[in-house]
Amino acid sequence: MKHFNIALIPGDGIGPEVVSEGVKVLQAIEDMDPEISFSFQTFPWGCEYYLKHGKMMDDAGMEQLKSFDAIYLGAVGYPGVPDHISLRDLLLKIRKGFDQYVNVRPITLLHSTLTPLKAKTEKDIDFLVIRENSEGEYAGAGEWLYKDKPEEVVMQTGVFSRKGTQRIIRYAYEEARKTNRTLTSVSKGNALNYSMVFWDEVFEEVGKEYPDVKTYSYLVDAASLYFVADPKRFEVVVTSNLFGDILTDIGAGITGGLGLATGANVNPEKEYPSMFEPVHGSAPDIAGKGIANPIAAIWSVSQMMDFFGETGWGEAILSSIKSLLTETDQLTPDLGGTASTAELGCRFVELLQEHRFT
Ligand code: NAI
Ligand code: MG
Repeated sequence: MKHFNIALIPGDGIGPEVVSEGVKVLQAIEDMDPEISFSFQTFPWGCEYYLKHGKMMDDAGMEQLKSFDAIYLGAVGYPGVPDHISLRDLLLKIRKGFDQYVNVRPITLLHSTLTPLKAKTEKDIDFLVIRENSEGEYAGAGEWLYKDKPEEVVMQTGVFSRKGTQRIIRYAYEEARKTNRTLTSVSKGNALNYSMVFWDEVFEEVGKEYPDVKTYSYLVDAASLYFVADPKRFEVVVTSNLFGDILTDIGAGITGGLGLATGANVNPEKEYPSMFEPVHGSAPDIAGKGIANPIAAIWSVSQMMDFFGETGWGEAILSSIKSLLTETDQLTPDLGGTASTAELGCRFVELLQEHRFT
């Protein structure tokens, strides 16, 4: 019997709406699999909490989360609280504080009708982006001088440590080797003459330990073009924090939009809990209407199960998502259907049960 203790941070806007569908899926797994059980504890942190308490999370929040096996997060951010506060004081605090230095984002086309790209099918778009998640351009280092004066200067410093750069690149090489795929590094050494030249050097150095892995190296502008024009050339991609953030939104764009994009924030050493979340934000424009697409959040559950070593369930979830995507009327409006968030969730659970028992 395996037991997993999961911290829920539903957050803001559509966050709670999609997280409750993900929890439904976890409970269905628990019902079907006598070997697995979960316990859940919900933390009410987010923008509403901030407006009441003047902070995004409890002062002892990190301590409270520390002992969980995983954190399942919806989305953070809402009008009324500046985004740089809500993001930095909750999401980034957890990613950094728990050294979740790997961000794993699958860019996989699950159904050919979902891509806006002409004549591309499932065979053409199936890769993994591994984004550095702890430093780089999002290190929060910099200076704001002479505020509101004519001589005002702001500096936002990218921080690339040898340890930080090596470990993300090594993780990517390991992933490529394990799955027998090519590895593409995305950087910008021609313009960023310190950070990205260093990145490229480390990519080559670490590569010496992996002569069996075929590699490519692209500048980020060219890579953006290829994401759209020729996504087939990518299998595993490793890149910096900012580039990975932007590229994976392009990745979401070519595979069906934000309602389907998922990302895992992983501490591979398991010294701290890892965090699973849809890529999308709190979508204030549709919050409270019950029409948010929960598939990204459900895909996060698949990533969580893989992380727990329950890859059978990880795969079962993914193939049930594929089946669901063929039932147009069961989908939410962003995918052209008329179903509500909860209706989609219920239909998904039925498909997962069928998948399990056939
Ligand atoms: P967003 O991802 O919330 O929304 C962008 C667009 O996509 C909206 O039109 C929205 O309706 C749609 N959309 C997003 N997820 C959807 C879903 N599951 N189903 C159907 N439609 C969906 O990004 P936006 O509007 O830039 O940011 C809103 C707030 O979310 C901001 O406060 C931002 O800081 C925060 N945010 C939080 C993130 C996180 O918690 N990981 C990530 C991105 C943004
Ligand atoms: Mg983003």
